Amino acid sequence: MNEERASASEIEGAVETVCGRHGNTPSELIEILHDLQDMLGYVPESALPVLAKKLNLSRAEVHGVVSFYHDFRHNPAGRVTVKICSAEACQSMGALPLIEEFCRRNGVTMGETKGDGSLTVEPVYCLGNCALSPAAEVNGRPMARVDAAKLDAAVKEALV
Ligand code: FES
Repeated sequence: MNEERASASEIEGAVETVCGRHGNTPSELIEILHDLQDMLGYVPESALPVLAKKLNLSRAEVHGVVSFYHDFRHNPAGRVTVKICSAEACQSMGALPLIEEFCRRNGVTMGETKGDGSLTVEPVYCLGNCALSPAAEVNGRPMARVDAAKLDAAVKEALV
């Protein structure tokens, strides 16, 4: 369901399903949010009160978790999602200028989706590939020792 906003009934149905899968257990909120994002492509703001009610948590508790973790997307992702690591090892190998260059070349801001819905760039803090930094992922496919040109080519390929 990526690229599209879910309707209110789709959101309610998805919340019902994922909460049910986890036995409506409040301590499984993070796993529930991941499942919801897998199902809808993002975690809609309007799902938060529904989740809070279902799990018997306050809205503030649910909101706090969603905003604390970088993993949760607040809007539908583009057709291609690029994650570029900006943790220490990757930073030492030029990740920050790489992010800047890649975003500039593609007319997108880190953490956002391009206006035409083609590309989302997300921050990530260590992909477990530090020895081959800077590391990235393009639609979940790991890439090592990347530069802006390699990322551009991978995005182009993923858009075909
Ligand atoms: S610091 Fe970037 S992959 Fe570990």
